[in-house]
Amino acid sequence: MCGIVGYVGDDNCVRVLVDGLKRLDYRGYDSAGIAYFNNGKLNIIKEEGKLSNLINSVDLNTKSNIGIGHTRWATHGLANKDNAHPHKTGKFTIVHNGIIENYDEIKKDLIKKGYRFVSETDTEVISALLDYLYTKEKNILNVINKLNYFLKGSYALGIICDDDKETLYTLKKNSPLIIGVCDGKNFIASDVPAILNKTKKYVVLEDNDYAKITRNKVEIFNNGRKKDFVVKEFEYDDLSIDKHGYEHFMLKEINEQPEVFKKTTNPYLKDDLDGLLKKMPDFTKYKCIRIVACGSATHAGLIGKQMIEKYANTEVNVETASEFRYKKQFLKDDELVIVISQSGETADTLEALKIAKENGNDTLGIINEKGSTIAREAKMVLYTEAGKEIAVATTKAYSAQVAMLSLIALNLSLKKDLIDKTEIKEILQDVKKLPDYMQELLNDRELYKKIANDIKCYNDVFFIGREVDYALAQEGSLKLKEISYTHSEAYAAGELKHGTISLIEEGTPVVAIVTDDSVAPKTISNIKEVKSRGAYVICVTNKTDVDNDDFYDEIVKIPRVNDLFEPLLAVIPLQLISYELAKIKGCSIDKPKNLAKSVTVE
Ligand code: F6R
Repeated sequence: MCGIVGYVGDDNCVRVLVDGLKRLDYRGYDSAGIAYFNNGKLNIIKEEGKLSNLINSVDLNTKSNIGIGHTRWATHGLANKDNAHPHKTGKFTIVHNGIIENYDEIKKDLIKKGYRFVSETDTEVISALLDYLYTKEKNILNVINKLNYFLKGSYALGIICDDDKETLYTLKKNSPLIIGVCDGKNFIASDVPAILNKTKKYVVLEDNDYAKITRNKVEIFNNGRKKDFVVKEFEYDDLSIDKHGYEHFMLKEINEQPEVFKKTTNPYLKDDLDGLLKKMPDFTKYKCIRIVACGSATHAGLIGKQMIEKYANTEVNVETASEFRYKKQFLKDDELVIVISQSGETADTLEALKIAKENGNDTLGIINEKGSTIAREAKMVLYTEAGKEIAVATTKAYSAQVAMLSLIALNLSLKKDLIDKTEIKEILQDVKKLPDYMQELLNDRELYKKIANDIKCYNDVFFIGREVDYALAQEGSLKLKEISYTHSEAYAAGELKHGTISLIEEGTPVVAIVTDDSVAPKTISNIKEVKSRGAYVICVTNKTDVDNDDFYDEIVKIPRVNDLFEPLLAVIPLQLISYELAKIKGCSIDKPKNLAKSVTVE
């Protein structure tokens, strides 16, 4: 991981590479580097830390027409200059995203053959292997193809070779890579935004594809054979990756949620249920559902479980993809597997999907990135319409996932005839009102700032709730941890007294979520238990009859809508409290340390 860009053409290559890396900067990284040919000589420049360190070390006016660049998120070896990409061995210089699982074995073998390594990375093993294979067979394309037989794991590679200074080579397996196409110049990149100011035309590489790219020609091969390929047009424009005056992408994306809700639900629910009944696949044939995802997408799945079980009376189990992969899955024949992913590239989620397919189960992807690997691999796809999400911490994509799962719950409920007409009417009205309600919550910044100030001196924060509110608590806690670096725990409210309540001291912040009427009295009892032990309670609730109660110190009131959509309101204060706290603490909000936007390693 994390970002690759490569260029061949008449423009100033160094500038194109640096610009491309800047545009991939949102994915998170800890070192960066570029390699380019200048007057026939290869130059490699790499620096630890921010891209600005690299930019200070390069001469942006250098004449070059071909090169590769990389931002690295360390996996094998420290985040230092030696381990930063590109890596060069003999005649081959490469950048790599992914992980080579058998690198140690290959490395030992290459050491016996006389190769010496200067980095601790798995990547340098690939450049050395290429060089070794090339000594046996002087055909660049053939030796690149041969990597597919030697390497285990995931790899998207940008390759240049001293023996062919006009050509960019690439190879990919289990890690995303696209080729950007334009007149008289071509690109490679791990994601289209890297080159979106140069071209909107791109080609998606399939696993084991390798390509030979010159300024005027793109040729793609697979297993020794030349392939036909389709050039696509990226649907977002360059403006969608602009902050539009917001201080951070995260704030912009939180504020986009009313619009995202409309875009995600409009095709299915507008004035009637027609779209919902006609455009969604029929899920009634499945006896049960397994949802598999990572991080916030799992939290969205937990909300989906509550909704589908409650409204459609269908059993749903939610699993973390990185665990699901390695256990006995006990998938039933009539079980639908839903994978949820913003990027559509998360390695563990993709592998979980493959397991479900191999087992013969039907699969549905709830995906944001159109045409991503998971979207292509899943049998059925429902796209969330969140648009491009840049901040590493997901907000609008998460709520679009929740909205989509609520639509699935409603669709199943209708088809199973489990919902009455009055409730349907109420839901249709709520769907219309929801964007305005969201906006009201978004406007309450002063309250979130006050809460953030009240809790800023505490190192530990608890989030509690029951049922759907517990699922929300988990998302609230994750947001707080990842962007404000404040330790927090999410607890099922009824579990506190089984141990954790011993950690509650005078002033300990506890964010309690109370939106689910069926369990609200029980949660309120749990809140009273922590309050009487000194907790500073922030209650996020849709209850209207608690104004004069004294079990909370601060109250965030959210409008009351049908349960199906209530989480979409409740999550907004949680996102914004985390945002304000991160801002007060001076954290890197859009790119929290150690995190990457697209987790393409297992
Ligand atoms: C948290 C966050 C991550 C992602 C997770 C899955 O804010 O963004 O937990 O939700 O890495 O990513 P996708 O949805 O791209 O599969």
